[in-house]
Amino acid sequence: MQKNKPSRTAYKVALGIVTLGSKPGMDRLLPPGIVEATEKLLVASGVVGSRAVQWSRSKRMVSVYEAFDWILPGQFEALAERKAFCEHQVREGIDQGASQILVIGAGYDTIGWRLAPEFPGVNFFEVDHPATARLKVRGIEAMGQRDNLLLIAEDLGERKLEDVLKSNELWDSKARTVIIAEGLVMYLHSDAVRSLFYQCALVTGVGTRIAFSYIPSGADGRPDAGRWTGLMLWLQKVAGEPWIWSIAPEEIGEFLENTGWKFAPGLAGTSRKYGVEFYAVATR
Ligand SMILES: C[S@@+](CC[C@H](N)C(=O)[O-])C[C@H]1O[C@@H](n2cnc3c(N)ncnc32)[C@H](O)[C@@H]1O
Repeated sequence: MQKNKPSRTAYKVALGIVTLGSKPGMDRLLPPGIVEATEKLLVASGVVGSRAVQWSRSKRMVSVYEAFDWILPGQFEALAERKAFCEHQVREGIDQGASQILVIGAGYDTIGWRLAPEFPGVNFFEVDHPATARLKVRGIEAMGQRDNLLLIAEDLGERKLEDVLKSNELWDSKARTVIIAEGLVMYLHSDAVRSLFYQCALVTGVGTRIAFSYIPSGADGRPDAGRWTGLMLWLQKVAGEPWIWSIAPEEIGEFLENTGWKFAPGLAGTSRKYGVEFYAVATR
């Protein structure tokens, strides 16, 4: 991402969620309250005005997104699938005794703000680059702080996640935790991804799960976004948030084993591709 500029992709995901709220049938897929909370957050944080939110909610905007599905087939709806997947992982993890939730590269995601009151005994942590986190902090303050939601502004390219968490007195390195890293790893370099998974294993307790999305590699080793891969990689690059990391799905198990995790395909529910991404869950 461009240094010191709020993430454009985080903003796009959030506006996409608002538009999905107007697409027939999506209410069955999207987590309850996500559309309203995202609208509120975008306006309260000053990321967009209420006019832009209204426009994003329009049927015309749904058609615009659908028209662009030719570049990345299924990617628009996949945002709803991804949010549903992450919410499922968090709820199931809490059911099984997790007392901490960590969302890495949280952007304008609202899971912490929405679920914190429902689970007062669980601590929700979010880490994001200061350029994006700064705006989100402003938004959350305006929407109403949650006692058990902590937003941490850190550039994980500058400071290790392990150090960020261990220096936080609320973080419990022995606790069973659910970690969410959605739409994140494709923006990191290979050594940073490896290090991130390794560090996540070091700062969490037994029974922890990490749920994430990733773009599969093509035969040439680049992220495979389908027929228009070249165009997509170029568009991401000129937008300042290039897709860098990808992995072949058949290599994900070995990658996880080497970074302190056990691949848990049963927990991911399915191994199908959603838009350009696969979803995966690992445990320790
Ligand atoms: C595509 S957005 C995804 C946002 C969110 N996970 C979602 O899906 O709604 C990627 C996020 O990763 C964050 N990010 C990228 N590089 C980062 C870094 N070096 N340190 C912390 N956060 C970073 C960006 O600020 C952005 O919020």
